[in-house]
Amino acid sequence: MTEVSGTGVSEVGASGPRLAKRLEGLPAPATIEMARRARALRAEGHNVISLALGEPDFATPSYAVEAAHRAALAGDTKYPPVDGKPALKAAIARKFSRENGLAFEPDELIVCNGGKQVIFNAFMATINPGDEVVVPAPYWVSYPLIARMFGGIPVHPECDEVDGFSLRPERLAAVMTSKTKWLVLNFPNNPSGALCTDEDLRGIAAVLRDYPDVWILSDEIYEHLVFDNHSFRSFAAIAPDLRGRVLTMNGVAKAYAMTGWRVGYAGGPRELIAAMRVVQGNATSGVCTVAQAAAAAALDGPSDMIREMVSTYARRRSMVVDTLQAVPGFTCAVPSGAFYAYPGIAACLGKTTRDGRLLRTDTDFAMALLEQAYVATVPGSAFGLSPYLRLSCATADADLKEACARIARFVETLR
Ligand SMILES: Cc1ncc(COP(=O)(O)O)c(C=O)c1O
Repeated sequence: MTEVSGTGVSEVGASGPRLAKRLEGLPAPATIEMARRARALRAEGHNVISLALGEPDFATPSYAVEAAHRAALAGDTKYPPVDGKPALKAAIARKFSRENGLAFEPDELIVCNGGKQVIFNAFMATINPGDEVVVPAPYWVSYPLIARMFGGIPVHPECDEVDGFSLRPERLAAVMTSKTKWLVLNFPNNPSGALCTDEDLRGIAAVLRDYPDVWILSDEIYEHLVFDNHSFRSFAAIAPDLRGRVLTMNGVAKAYAMTGWRVGYAGGPRELIAAMRVVQGNATSGVCTVAQAAAAAALDGPSDMIREMVSTYARRRSMVVDTLQAVPGFTCAVPSGAFYAYPGIAACLGKTTRDGRLLRTDTDFAMALLEQAYVATVPGSAFGLSPYLRLSCATADADLKEACARIARFVETLR
């Protein structure tokens, strides 16, 4: 029999109805596991501060909520086209043109149930068992998990802390093979907050020119959350000659605090978009009509809220980085974007907690930190690069400050 639990899918016996092989051995994302443990401790009455989830702590802009309300009252409540309503696609085309210098026709665009379904559709439409999917580490957990559901083999070149977690072209070149089907780029990056320099992106494009059969997924969902003097450029704009195989994906979840509305979108070559439409048409059909109305209003609306979020995240990031850099045994690269910090904890491993627990891995560290200091983080092992922790700065300033103080005190007690 196959058992599905919070920790994934596993075989538990020889008889009984079975689940599909494609789910065997697929772990549940560790982000969800940490959140589950944090909830359990909270239920026991502990004051747990969670830095584990990547969800903006802002409200959806009222003009987006009002647009959804108006759409519902106006009867915009019927089945939508599978690939998105024309009004939202037009807003997406304007956004790509205005912010990224990319022109798309309507049949080169698709609206999905969150950015996650963009990835699911694209991988289901293209991956055959044995195809390799290059996902630089550290990575957002869903790319390799979705690739594995279709028999894809994730391959992980590392982005080093000394390079600011940027992907160096030579690291990419070393893992490309004739079996490579996709390269996933995600800058600003979840979990490291890294941006890739234009020079590195041009170097990556040069590597890809030698592999004309490889698709490129550029996940730009954190594009607006960029700090200091950094600026963001879309990969397809940096390498226009590769546009025939670049799928540029984005969504309203992070930039407009609209995680629950479930609207993601992508622009890419029409054959790929058409294939993704077939997948989506047989799974979920089109995205909720009122959510599409809200997303269109968000994309066309004023950008004050984004500016406010960026300055809030930048302030919190500086506070976290300054505090953690002063913790003995911690390193902490300064994230250029997104809302995470990814401190290194190598010098803390091999130590024991005050109740005698040996910390061998970042998972041991994160679990002990949660159970003894009541701070929930996610270990770097979940993102394919250890030993690190991911801290989400999408948390109220006071909680973030208290969490950092608890981390510093916890580390002081290690022997
Ligand atoms: C890098 C990255 N891409 C995509 C997503 C998915 O976004 P959505 O909520 O639109 O599915 C997330 C969400 O955490 C993310 O971190």
